[in-house]
Amino acid sequence: MARAPGARRLEGLGVTIFSEMTRLAIAHGAINLGQGFPDFPGPDLVKEAAVLAIRADLNQYAPSHGLPRLRQAVARAFEQSYGHPVDPEVEVTVTTGATEGLHAALLALVDPGDEVIVFEPFYDAYLAQIRFAGGVPRPVTLWPPDWRFDPNELAAAFGPRTRAVIVNTPHNPTGKVFTHDELALVAALCQEYDVVAITDEVYDRILYDDAVHIPLATLPGMWERTITLNSTGKTFSMTGWKVGWAIASAPLTRAIRATHQFITFATATPFQEAMAVALEQAAESGYYAELAAAYAERRAVLHRALEATGLSVLPCRGSYFLLADASGLGFPDDVSLCRYLVTEVGVAAIPPSAFYADPARAPVLARFCFAKRLETLQAAAERLAGFAGMNASAPSARSVG
Ligand SMILES: Cc1ncc(COP(=O)(O)O)c(C=O)c1O
Repeated sequence: MARAPGARRLEGLGVTIFSEMTRLAIAHGAINLGQGFPDFPGPDLVKEAAVLAIRADLNQYAPSHGLPRLRQAVARAFEQSYGHPVDPEVEVTVTTGATEGLHAALLALVDPGDEVIVFEPFYDAYLAQIRFAGGVPRPVTLWPPDWRFDPNELAAAFGPRTRAVIVNTPHNPTGKVFTHDELALVAALCQEYDVVAITDEVYDRILYDDAVHIPLATLPGMWERTITLNSTGKTFSMTGWKVGWAIASAPLTRAIRATHQFITFATATPFQEAMAVALEQAAESGYYAELAAAYAERRAVLHRALEATGLSVLPCRGSYFLLADASGLGFPDDVSLCRYLVTEVGVAAIPPSAFYADPARAPVLARFCFAKRLETLQAAAERLAGFAGMNASAPSARSVG
């Protein structure tokens, strides 16, 4: 008998919800607030730097762990912002986005059967990547509306099989920014159980109100046991370039470089050079403050539009997503809500059940991305006003299929 065309690790993977919602958005002419990428260009200075790098023939393989200029810029930016020195020679590895950084880190750490704790809801790549490494995911739930976790549930998840815990802050899809106390608890458990923390900090420059980003690696006792992942995609609005990095102590970096060299070997050279230029000037030029202020304005526009529909909007302190609560409106689950939004209202959103190990546990929410031009958000607001009208009718009268 012929074998199935795919390996067993493909079971349950399917097509990501992002691809499905984008397909529906195109088919229905909907405004796509689903997948998390900007519809506006990144900074000219960064584009010009890439053009110059290509013209200067920086077009061959970079060193596997990254161009020295980029590693130095990453180390300096981290130290300037978060106060902990980083050695660019032995503590920084350039990766092809944070996604490859996570893959390299998990392959470097996890043996078959090892457990990896993840806070649920989680960015959907985590589960697949833990399984690719042969690991067993151990979800710990974050509860709305403020997405706190139960400290007892977290403590109970740690045990002799725990190898790593993944912490994403600022958090996708909830907009939560982990507090110092929450991180201190994670740190204490990591030290008690000899566990490595992998942090995903791709939204660290997109913060609102009085939110402060604290890298877990900077807490006492954590530098030696934390891998800090980041990426320039969100910070410089160039998600397609896939330039990211992993910061970790020298022994952990050696392990990451060992897997990274055989995953991609290296990341695109001219884009590394351009991102070095971007990082070198970002803090002094006020770029980070401008980025956060521009996102605060977009968040306000989408927040108003969603509230006007009668949906209640959950707080968002970081990242570029808002979650709207549709419980009580008659939708059986978040997938029907999002299908309705894309087909009937003309606005695509993502159902957060895609970010749960057991989708049945997900509350009826929709995730809207506001990394969009103000015109895009205004156009979405006009369409969402139609949802408010439909809302007035009895839920049973709607087609939610
Ligand atoms: C939490 C989180 N981590 C990682 C990524 C992907 O980062 P990259 O494009 O650098 O691989 C995303 C993109 O949406 C994300 O939301």
